[in-house]
Amino acid sequence: MKSLNIIKSRLFTHSPLVLTHNTTSLCNCKCKTCDLWKKSPYHKNDLTKEEVFKMLDDAKQAGMIGYVAWGGEPLMRKDLPELLRHAKQNGLATTIITNGYYLEDRSEEIAPYTDCIIVSIDAADELHDEMRGVHGIREKALKGIEKCKGLKIRVMINSVISSLNIDKVDGLIMLSKELDVPIAFEPLNVYPGYNEHLKPDDATIKDVFLKIIEYKSSGHRIVNSKQYLEMIRENYSERKQYTCHAPKVFIEVHPEGEIACCLNLSKPWGNSKDISLKELFYSSDYKEFCKDVEKCNKCVVSCVIESSLAYSMEPVFLLDKVKNLL
Ligand SMILES: C[S@@+](CC[C@H](N)C(=O)[O-])C[C@H]1O[C@@H](n2cnc3c(N)ncnc32)[C@H](O)[C@@H]1O
Ligand code: SF4
Ligand code: SF4
Repeated sequence: MKSLNIIKSRLFTHSPLVLTHNTTSLCNCKCKTCDLWKKSPYHKNDLTKEEVFKMLDDAKQAGMIGYVAWGGEPLMRKDLPELLRHAKQNGLATTIITNGYYLEDRSEEIAPYTDCIIVSIDAADELHDEMRGVHGIREKALKGIEKCKGLKIRVMINSVISSLNIDKVDGLIMLSKELDVPIAFEPLNVYPGYNEHLKPDDATIKDVFLKIIEYKSSGHRIVNSKQYLEMIRENYSERKQYTCHAPKVFIEVHPEGEIACCLNLSKPWGNSKDISLKELFYSSDYKEFCKDVEKCNKCVVSCVIESSLAYSMEPVFLLDKVKNLL
């Protein structure tokens, strides 16, 4: 069924397959690279469990095949296991992106309904706690990873590279080896007025991404495609060689239900409480938006570039992914 939906979407409808849901505004961290924790007081307006269920039913109707729960901190949502269970009942593969603080405590509750957990780690040493503004979070996240492995959940580390942790890549790769879990890297998002002071310079990015490529070539479990890593290494601050297909692969739903992504953040298409995803994806507005964004390629984050490469069915990219599976 999933393969059929992928073929249908890629060849005919071009409607997105993955629902990425910012499940809550609540967050227990004070990260230096992310200001989402400042929205914690608004968590009272998060979609209710019933409203999320409605959205997940709608996602199934729209032919979607994946549900990614992030936030804020998704493990702060008490009803997260129920949301994941509902997603699974609707045939969606489930992924959680978490800072890992509550992972050990909650892993048994989520295990039956979770296909993959992505744990964010910024440094293998004490810098991690400093960057996240929470004493002991590194220790807790690592214990959570071990527990999830024991419960046979697929686990992955995600590391966002900024000027704060750019010299921590070797340690992170060693950590991934010790834990025996794959790791993904990406540079941080920087916008005018946001994170500019944390942007690494191009020469340093070049060196560090070359190092990551070498680690990957020597067999370390690095999730990113070689094509993505090369793209960042060669052209970090300049326009990159890809066509953005992100809205044909995933959509973003925000805590209160607004459906909006990148270029239309200030002008959402509507709220998941009121509109049908299928109708949205088939609408001329959405199709025009998908066409318009093909001109944009300013993102450096891996989800946008890798999903765009996958959508383009780039032969080098596909070969790399097949190799990862072997
Ligand atoms: C916004 S967080 C939400 C989930 C959870 N709170 C966590 O930290 O994993 C999702 C991912 O974004 C990453 N992130 C944080 N700051 C970022 C930035 N400025 N640019 C890109 N990604 C960032 C986090 O490290 C995490 O892997
Ligand atoms: S834990 Fe996640 S959502 Fe919270 S501030 Fe850090 S990166 Fe942002
Ligand atoms: S590359 Fe442009 S259009 Fe694509 S996700 Fe990023 S900002 Fe949006």
